[in-house]
Amino acid sequence: MSRYDEDTDLSVKALKGFKDILPDEVRTWQMVERIARDIFHRFGFSEIKVPILEKTELFSRSIGEATDIVEKEMYTFEDRNGALITMRPEGTASLLRAFIEHGLHVQRPVQRLYTMGPMFRHERPQKGRLRQFHQMSVEVVGSENPKVDAEVIAMAHLLLNELGLSVSLEINSLGCRSCRPLFNNRLVEFLKECSGRLCPDCERRRHTNPLRVLDCKNENCRSLFDKAPLILDHLCDQCRDHFADMENGLKLLDIPYLVNPFMVRGLDYYTRTTFELVTDALGSQSAVGAGGRYDGLIKDLGGPDIPGIGFAMGMERLVLLMSQQQKEAGATSIDLFVAALGKAAQETAFKMVHGLRVNGLQVAMDHEGRSLKSQMKQAGRLNSRYTLIIGDDELEKGEGTLRNMESRDQASVSLPGDLDEWTGKMVEMISS
Ligand code: HAM
Repeated sequence: MSRYDEDTDLSVKALKGFKDILPDEVRTWQMVERIARDIFHRFGFSEIKVPILEKTELFSRSIGEATDIVEKEMYTFEDRNGALITMRPEGTASLLRAFIEHGLHVQRPVQRLYTMGPMFRHERPQKGRLRQFHQMSVEVVGSENPKVDAEVIAMAHLLLNELGLSVSLEINSLGCRSCRPLFNNRLVEFLKECSGRLCPDCERRRHTNPLRVLDCKNENCRSLFDKAPLILDHLCDQCRDHFADMENGLKLLDIPYLVNPFMVRGLDYYTRTTFELVTDALGSQSAVGAGGRYDGLIKDLGGPDIPGIGFAMGMERLVLLMSQQQKEAGATSIDLFVAALGKAAQETAFKMVHGLRVNGLQVAMDHEGRSLKSQMKQAGRLNSRYTLIIGDDELEKGEGTLRNMESRDQASVSLPGDLDEWTGKMVEMISS
């Protein structure tokens, strides 16, 4: 673009980190959503739809004040009444808020719910990382049983399998509210000894959120952490048993996994089981999905003291991976293109096309009076299975030409005397 064009370009562009999803890509999205919904329903989940805007305190209380999301990534503003509102950065807090508000635990002791939609985080955009992205968020509320953890992970694994994606599963346990504080003290002691050798981010975090330090990607910090205490060595008996039972569940279901004791997650609400589904095909944004258990969270948000576990998959990362691994949805096709030549033929075609659509066929026509050659090109571009050609002469004779676009066979077909009767015959012919 020249300087002059730049100065005179009046078009408004999308915001940085906000992406349009164009029709060709939407087909793959729809395929992913269809397969996901089908799997979620097989596992007994029901869909819930929750708002995009929530009170800011919902996220600061659940995700944690000292997390990157709450400290610097939320889209927060004052509404017209001066209340602090946030565009949800994730789905779990909103879903649990709705769960508590509507007393869903009273209906059924264990609830299996999922939600899909856009989330917002003011992160630095890069491949696989957007400011508006979409999650499929899945939660089981009301069970502490480690077999449920294995079942939820197995569902995520099955989804990736059915999408044809190869991704690795990493698991860890973050302990509970009785063993984690003891581990935290050990970690703080260790990090104090490392002081002066840590990167500035870790130096800050060792005071605000020490667990997150273990997630640092800096090579130098990582080498220091070789000697760091590991949470898995500091679990209480109940958490150790819970982790072993969850692992056993994964083994029973033949789900391959790797224990990663350094996985700490970026949200503070997790307890016990955490997991990530990772790939090295997306550069630094390696997680296509992640989740874990959050046993104290519902109570913290003002609800009953019941446990929960869930995960979220990032749609953009899934679709990116599918395009890299050439698993996108195939091209679409239509049943019939009606190429009408002349005013009277166009009018008849207009009625026929509507009648066929009412009866379930995917049909297109040209309204601009283009040449036959150009209309045949359109039919080709739309990947039409058949084309019906009608000119004013054919109209007078009461017949048109039906062409099978693949075999190129052509046959004469009568045009409608009675539109309903004719439509029925055409639907039968084209659907067979
Ligand atoms: P999360 O790890 O923050 O967890 O996000 C889950 C997934 O959302 C990530 O693995 C990634 O695929 C996608 N994602 C996150 N941020 C972005 C971004 N900026 N651009 C593109 N994709 C992104 C949660 O959100 C938890 N609520 C998951 C959960 C549900 N835990 C329990 N239940």
